[in-house]
Amino acid sequence: MAPTTIPDLIMAWSGRSVLVQYDKPTASWMFIALHDPTAKQCVGGVRMKVYPCPEDGLRDALRLAEGMTYKWAAIDVEFGGGKAVIALSRPVAGAERQGLLERFAAMANSLNGRYGSGPDLGITQEDVDFIAKRTRYMHCYDHTRRVPIDPGPYTAYGAFVGMKAALRHTTGTDNLRDRVVLVQGLGDTGLPLCNLLHEAGAALRVTDIDGGRAKAVVAELGGEVVAPDAAYDAPCDIYAPCAIGATLNEDTIPRLKAKIIAGTANNQLAVPEDGERLLQRGILYCPDYVVNGGGAVSLAMFDEGKSVAEVRTSVEAMDRRLTAIFQEAAANHESPVHAARRKAELRIAKRHAAA
Ligand code: PHE
Repeated sequence: MAPTTIPDLIMAWSGRSVLVQYDKPTASWMFIALHDPTAKQCVGGVRMKVYPCPEDGLRDALRLAEGMTYKWAAIDVEFGGGKAVIALSRPVAGAERQGLLERFAAMANSLNGRYGSGPDLGITQEDVDFIAKRTRYMHCYDHTRRVPIDPGPYTAYGAFVGMKAALRHTTGTDNLRDRVVLVQGLGDTGLPLCNLLHEAGAALRVTDIDGGRAKAVVAELGGEVVAPDAAYDAPCDIYAPCAIGATLNEDTIPRLKAKIIAGTANNQLAVPEDGERLLQRGILYCPDYVVNGGGAVSLAMFDEGKSVAEVRTSVEAMDRRLTAIFQEAAANHESPVHAARRKAELRIAKRHAAA
């Protein structure tokens, strides 16, 4: 049975340590998961949303922190995986939100730099600014000029480059003109991805839990709105999950029409076997932590003071990174999930050996 209690979840986890704090004023739970504390810092964004129960928030934090370890390894950056989740019991806004974020910043500070944060789902640029003024362990922020740096467009650009690599691998050309791409989730990464796809001449199908957002995107870029529950059955060439996790599962995979999956969401597979399900259906899957690594690349490079042009060039390495994974997977008749995992594990083992 899948673990369901907080101790069971932590016992079943491959990571090392979790800091837990109950926030009485807002009745929410805060978790900071450090997956690989042997690294100089465990880095990953903070996600804030309403969860049905704190256990669901912890489960998200643990899986996302593990995913971050692989994401850093995939781009060869020497961070360990970390992730924070603020599991709300109800939406919080205004002064109450600020109070909560202030306490989150203090919690991050208490780890003395073992955890480095950044934005994730439910955290606005304003929130980043607010948190970064209270802890120096916030990445995606220019601490000299005191302005947030949004990783979203870089994540989107990496996914766009990765999508083209996948298209070239399956069809021989990376021309997106008139290809139908279904983008699910029109937030910080889905929206800039839509813009890139539109510029490349792709035909957009968009869906979002906020129907108004989807309509607005179509009004500007053309294409069609798809209802959220119709997304998995919609005819398309490429499916780009760009919001919540676990959208690829036993129920949805048999329904998909796409031949390629390339999106920015974290933890896209509900369970590891879903990689096999996709392979059997002949769908080329871009492993999530690889194809969505553009934001992580931007974080690491902006930390080092690199320019926008340098960051963009570095994000473009997504093409050869994914192509190498597709080729290895094809040679082994396996899901790209396995090829990606082997490559990442090799890098992690090397780092551990050098430490
Ligand atoms: N949350 C985003 C991601 O999962 C961006 C980010 C990357 C934030 C790395 C912090 C660290 O890729």
